[in-house]
Amino acid sequence: MTDRYCVFGNPIGHSKSPLIHAAFARQTGEDISYSAILAPLDGFAASVHAFVAAGGRGANVTVPFKEQAWQLVSRRTARAELAGAVNTLVFGNAEIVGDNTDGAGLLLDIALNLRCPLLARRILLLGAGGAARGVSGPLLEARPAALVIANRTAARAHALAGHFAPLGAVTGCSFSELAGQSFDIVINATSASLGDALPPLPPGLFAAGSLAYEMMYGREDTPFLAFARAQGAAQLADGLGMLVEQAAEAFHVWRGVRPDVAPVLAMLRNSGA
Ligand code: ATR
Repeated sequence: MTDRYCVFGNPIGHSKSPLIHAAFARQTGEDISYSAILAPLDGFAASVHAFVAAGGRGANVTVPFKEQAWQLVSRRTARAELAGAVNTLVFGNAEIVGDNTDGAGLLLDIALNLRCPLLARRILLLGAGGAARGVSGPLLEARPAALVIANRTAARAHALAGHFAPLGAVTGCSFSELAGQSFDIVINATSASLGDALPPLPPGLFAAGSLAYEMMYGREDTPFLAFARAQGAAQLADGLGMLVEQAAEAFHVWRGVRPDVAPVLAMLRNSGA
């Protein structure tokens, strides 16, 4: 019997997850199907329960349902608890377990695919919304020298830094307070790029040899990546690697098998993602 999985989102038509998981299944010989399900904005829980009733074994959750998924589950993994959001559901034994593989996906992409160490480096995280919160715990667990969270609304950066302070050296600030500081890794977790906007960043943020990481992905440089290029960042990356790595981590949670990410990432890049 083929085991059924899916991704819930709204909108969902653009999702690359069915393509990614189909490739993982072919590669590993796992007998699964994976579809994209458009959940109504006011009907996420009902969509999940219908999928469980139809025999679904697990699911991914994307925008805008990750916080609702966190509320819905009967149990959360430690990393989902910290992230305040759930992107991976496991159905079984009359319970729904909620996990979050986004942070692990980002870390794997930076450390393995981009070959950029995080230990003892200075990391700047731009943004203090759901995307930033989802990756802050795993970033601190990589034991950087410092994690600075900077946000347009400084109070949200301070609150997020306070939440994660027990895990390591993290501080919050406004964008203007970044003047005079430089970092080895700068991650854009704001949604500014969605509106083709650039957060008001001071010059000089990129240390020699630094990585600029845009959590969104697309064919064109976002304003953030264009800024980073002009400011001398040594390495630029978009979030496609994170997308594939978080999917691989979910696949491993469901199937106990870790797919090889490199050929799937190459396939997506070649197909113009
Ligand atoms: P997400 O789940 O994508 O993180 P969110 O929780 O709405 O979405 O958070 C959006 C983040 O992008 C916030 O940090 C927001 O800054 P504020 O907290 O000040 O609102 C940030 N953001 C959105 N548009 C921005 C822009 N044009 N410039 C700078 N930051 C922006």
